[in-house]
Amino acid sequence: MLDVRNVDKSYGAIDVLRDVTFSVDEGAAFAVIGPNGAGKTTLFKVLTGEAFADRGEIVYRADSVARLPAWRRIGAGIGRTFQTSRVFPAFTVEQNIVVALEARGRSSGEGRPSWLRIAPSRGVVEEAARWAGEVGLSHRLLEEARFLSHGDKKRLELAMALSLRPKLIMLDEPTAGMSPVERSRSVALIARIRREFGLTLLLTEHDMDVVFDLADHILVLNYGQVIFRGPPAEIRGNAAVRDIYLGQDDDA
Ligand SMILES: Nc1ncnc2c1ncn2[C@@H]1O[C@H](COP(=O)(O)OP(=O)(O)OP(=O)(O)O)[C@@H](O)[C@H]1O
Ligand SMILES: [Mg+2]
Repeated sequence: MLDVRNVDKSYGAIDVLRDVTFSVDEGAAFAVIGPNGAGKTTLFKVLTGEAFADRGEIVYRADSVARLPAWRRIGAGIGRTFQTSRVFPAFTVEQNIVVALEARGRSSGEGRPSWLRIAPSRGVVEEAARWAGEVGLSHRLLEEARFLSHGDKKRLELAMALSLRPKLIMLDEPTAGMSPVERSRSVALIARIRREFGLTLLLTEHDMDVVFDLADHILVLNYGQVIFRGPPAEIRGNAAVRDIYLGQDDDA
């Protein structure tokens, strides 16, 4: 489904991604892990079109997308959530999802342009409520996003991403900052959504329990380079991976 070949990305003098190559099969759950600053979020940006690779190729479902703008990649079925929250704090849960749905309508050319209307159509509002239900936020529909718990904000972002009907969904640290209870609820939600919508999943995550619960493939980045690629069962015995993680423990 996704083929990433020899991707480089620099910011000024810093080489953030160096010759990154991997592929993700349709239906896989693929985790990208590595220390802070390893380049995980930058890799996501290069895949979604928020940033562009300096070199290399990105093939999504047999089409080269490396030079496509973000909105075209969203239209092709690449969706994502962000490491730091991007919900509109003064909008309700429902309004946030309506905004995402209206953006979908604009980029795909479906429906009447939203500037011709003062209020969203009833169909759009009903659909927003359905997406809220998918992530367990029905009871928070009319709550302003700024009053949501951290976990519920993440759920809202997931609903907004899902409403764009992705085939590949990329989650950047979906459980960061969560309590253990919120974290296991999130893992269950992500697993269910993946099954229900037949999604291919690409996630970054620092919590290894979450990685082992969700992922069937793991890629380890260190200073922008791939140092491991393979199934979870092989990672524990990998000396290079052990070194960078033990190195981190020594620093802490
Ligand atoms: N827009 C930018 N301009 C300059 N440097 C950047 C930019 N974005 C990222 N970097 C640098 O690139 C490196 C990788 O950053 P990135 O955010 O991709 O890491 P990460 O693996 O997601 O880290 P974390 O686990 O902390 O989220 C860091 O050294 C960072 O400072
Ligand atoms: Mg990051």
